[in-house]
Amino acid sequence: MELKLDFPVFHPWSSSKLSTLPLLLLLMLLSLCSFSPSQCSDLDPKDKASLLLFRSSVQNPDQSLATWFGSNCTNWTGISCEDRTGRVVSVDLANMNLSGRLHPGLCELSFLEHLKLSENNFNGTIPTCFGSLGNLKALDLSHNSFVGILPDDMMRLGQLRELVLSGNRELGGILPRWIGNFSNNLAKLDLSSNSFHGEIPDSLYNLKSLRHLDLGDNNLSGNVHEFYQSLEYLSLASNKLVGALPCFSAATKSLTVLTLANNSLVGGIPTCIGSLEALAHLNLSFNHLSYGISPRLVFTEKLIVMDLSFNDLSGPLPVKIAVATEKSGLVLLDLSHNQFSGKIPLKITELKSLQALFLSHNHLTGEIPPRIGNLTYLQVIDLSHNSLSGSIPLDIVGCFQLLALILNNNNLSGEIQPELDALDSLKILDVSHNKISGEIPLTLAGLKSLEIVELSSNNLSGTLSDAITKWLNLKYLSLAHNKFSGNLPSWLFTFEAIQMIDFSGNKFSGFIPEGNFNISFHNNNGEPKEPFTSMKNVEIKVSTMVINTSELSFNFEVSSTVGIDLSDNLLRCEIPNVLFEVEGLEYLNLSYNYLDGQLPSLEKMWNLRSLDLSHNSLSGQIPGNISTLKNLKLLNLSCNGFSGSVPANQGYKRFPGAFAGNPDLCVESSGEGCERGSPPAASGKTFEQVEGPILVWVFCVSAFVSFYSSVVGLFCSGRARSYILQTKV
Ligand SMILES: *[C@@H]1O[C@H](CO)[C@@H](O)[C@H](O)[C@H]1NC(C)=O
Ligand SMILES: *[C@@H]1O[C@H](CO)[C@@H](O)[C@H](O)[C@H]1NC(C)=O
Ligand SMILES: *[C@@H]1O[C@H](CO)[C@@H](O)[C@H](O)[C@H]1NC(C)=O
Ligand SMILES: *[C@@H]1O[C@H](CO)[C@@H](O)[C@H](O)[C@H]1NC(C)=O
Ligand SMILES: *[C@@H]1O[C@H](CO)[C@@H](O)[C@H](O)[C@H]1NC(C)=O
Ligand SMILES: *[C@@H]1O[C@H](CO)[C@@H](O)[C@H](O)[C@H]1NC(C)=O
Ligand SMILES: *[C@@H]1O[C@H](CO)[C@@H](O)[C@H](O)[C@H]1NC(C)=O
Ligand SMILES: *[C@@H]1O[C@H](CO)[C@@H](O)[C@H](O)[C@H]1NC(C)=O
Ligand SMILES: *[C@@H]1O[C@H](CO)[C@@H](O)[C@H](O)[C@H]1NC(C)=O
Ligand SMILES: *[C@@H]1O[C@H](CO)[C@@H](O)[C@H](O)[C@H]1NC(C)=O
Ligand SMILES: *[C@@H]1O[C@H](CO)[C@@H](O)[C@H](O)[C@H]1NC(C)=O
Ligand SMILES: *[C@@H]1O[C@H](CO)[C@@H](O)[C@H](O)[C@H]1NC(C)=O
Repeated sequence: MELKLDFPVFHPWSSSKLSTLPLLLLLMLLSLCSFSPSQCSDLDPKDKASLLLFRSSVQNPDQSLATWFGSNCTNWTGISCEDRTGRVVSVDLANMNLSGRLHPGLCELSFLEHLKLSENNFNGTIPTCFGSLGNLKALDLSHNSFVGILPDDMMRLGQLRELVLSGNRELGGILPRWIGNFSNNLAKLDLSSNSFHGEIPDSLYNLKSLRHLDLGDNNLSGNVHEFYQSLEYLSLASNKLVGALPCFSAATKSLTVLTLANNSLVGGIPTCIGSLEALAHLNLSFNHLSYGISPRLVFTEKLIVMDLSFNDLSGPLPVKIAVATEKSGLVLLDLSHNQFSGKIPLKITELKSLQALFLSHNHLTGEIPPRIGNLTYLQVIDLSHNSLSGSIPLDIVGCFQLLALILNNNNLSGEIQPELDALDSLKILDVSHNKISGEIPLTLAGLKSLEIVELSSNNLSGTLSDAITKWLNLKYLSLAHNKFSGNLPSWLFTFEAIQMIDFSGNKFSGFIPEGNFNISFHNNNGEPKEPFTSMKNVEIKVSTMVINTSELSFNFEVSSTVGIDLSDNLLRCEIPNVLFEVEGLEYLNLSYNYLDGQLPSLEKMWNLRSLDLSHNSLSGQIPGNISTLKNLKLLNLSCNGFSGSVPANQGYKRFPGAFAGNPDLCVESSGEGCERGSPPAASGKTFEQVEGPILVWVFCVSAFVSFYSSVVGLFCSGRARSYILQTKV
């Protein structure tokens, strides 16, 4: 071993060789050091050379490594040296926009203990020579573009305490067998979001020092079994693991985060999971867990997040989740997308810290318990897709911080109560597909934060409430398939941020207002939004995620097609020309009304993807430039009174059936002259009976309505953050 020891006194094996003279010198130096320690931090010349070699192969657009000159270690960005020897002990170059391959020169830093190159764009393989960094205690190469496998030489890193290689998508291969027994000090292993496959080696289950294990988001297979050390953090989420859920009994006192989500686990949830005393975060979603939840499965008040969604759990909802319900710190409870049945237990309304409650897509019956209003921290309630009945309880205004109230696809009846105006933080209100009747109360003008209002498919009636004009942040408004009537108000198109107005299937009469046309369609950047999905219904989805175990985020997703749908009403007169000048519009459906007049040129609607004006009384010529609208995928002008001719060379072939039912219109087909669009076989909306292209058309329209979604991120209140921070490990 060749070591250049500037201050050999610190190395007992060489101190014996010291003669008096150097010792004196040494004492002098030592005293110097104690007066002016900076004199002693001269960067070791060999290490300096190694670092410069490393830098020579790095692209460094931000010039952050330009400070690497001279021999004053404190000046070298990201480098720390041992005070007296000047040997480099730590290299921390995280998040500096560096790229290129790692130069083997780095491996010459033989005193290196900490190496952190995370969040850059380094590529190539992990150099084999890393195995010679025998003093390395922490290695973090996460979030780069490393490829290939872990070199077997790395098993020589016997001092390693932390190995973090997550977020290198093409780094993987079979998870090496040595990973669990190369270092008896390994406390943290994070290989998440890589491409490892194969089974979890037995050695990992037995590695005594291990506290933090994250193998999430790989392609690991095989059975999960019991771990035999006091783990604090375990994530095996998003792999292909099978088997039943173990008890983790060796970690009863320590395990705080347990996520096995998105695997293929089967069987029930064993009650022993409840005896994990420190458990704060449990995520078992997206598995095949089944059976009922035992009443004996009860957690401590430390549990903050419980996500059991997307399983096959059945039976009644768990009544008692925490030993002492009143002390429970549960912030998020997600039992959605299961087979739970029965009523919503009252006990749930005693989980005072609750901020997000997801019980959607189950078979719940009975009424929404009024005591839900006791949950004053609630921000999201999603009870959609159940069979809940009764009316929306007035007491819900107790949840005064509510951001999202999602109750669609139930059997709710009664009226929207004027007192709901107290929910003045509400951003999302979805009560669609219920049996709610009555009018929209004027008091709801107070819900000034509303962005998404989905009231479709109910039994609502009356004229358009002026309350709506006060919802200045409105992005999405659907009143479709109700019994609203009266004229459309002149303020209809004045919302600054609006993206979708759907009033279809009502009894609105009169004309389409012309004044104040001010839809700005901010969110439409003009990029064509491919591809179409085949989703049939607009679904407003709220999902939550714990980010870095320290923050909870709610994501709201809704179709954000930019469009106007006034179809199937009783509207008359001409379509105001300004409507054909809205540049951002992608979807316009005015079919099934009594509109007349002629179509202007549509060239300003360059973003239009779907235009349906069928089943009206429009007349005159078909404007020649419709076929030049590049994004147009769907066109339906059938069943009107258009006349004149549509030349074959205008490219309307891609819209089969678009002109049917215009008896005076001549649609030229190449060579064969004129093809008169005969009226479709059935009138009204029984498209299903019509064969051929029109059927395709109908399908496409419903597919269109939700072809892409926008995400609005919301972060939780300071209170939630402090709850969740406690889980940080
Ligand atoms: C090294 O740099 C630091 C900070 O820039 C300074 O305080 C120290 O005096 C310098 N030491 C030498 C030997 O130049
Ligand atoms: C260290 O940096 C400071 C300012 O950044 C500079 O004044 C000083 O000369 C540098 N020292 C050495 C030894 O390069
Ligand atoms: C990173 O560097 C690239 C050039 O290689 C530059 O375009 C980019 O803006 C930089 N990113 C940051 C975050 O500095
Ligand atoms: C690695 O990164 C360098 C610098 O950014 C780049 O020139 C090179 O093409 C990359 N190599 C691969 C295989 O991506
Ligand atoms: C790791 O365990 C394997 C057997 O599982 C053994 O062959 C190997 O020598 C062990 N390595 C170390 C460094 O203990
Ligand atoms: C994951 O592993 C399975 C076999 O277990 C294999 O069929 C599949 O292609 C792998 N997927 C990826 C993305 O590597
Ligand atoms: C589940 O894992 C698969 C890969 O195994 C991934 O594609 C998918 O996005 C994951 N789903 C969720 C909800 O995380
Ligand atoms: C919970 O609600 C019930 C009925 O609404 C009420 O009697 C009770 O006092 C409330 N409890 C708390 C702690 O607010
Ligand atoms: C819906 O509620 C009505 C009473 O309002 C009831 O007759 C009907 O059975 C309920 N339907 C379902 C599916 O629960
Ligand atoms: C719809 O509401 C009207 C009153 O506006 C009521 O008479 C009728 O019974 C309701 N229909 C249903 C199915 O609830
Ligand atoms: C139209 O919207 C813009 C902002 O997009 C606003 O400045 C303007 O006042 C609005 N005009 C009318 C008539 O409402
Ligand atoms: C649980 O895990 C799933 C799949 O990885 C993820 O989509 C979901 O956001 C997680 N739940 C929470 C509350 O973080």
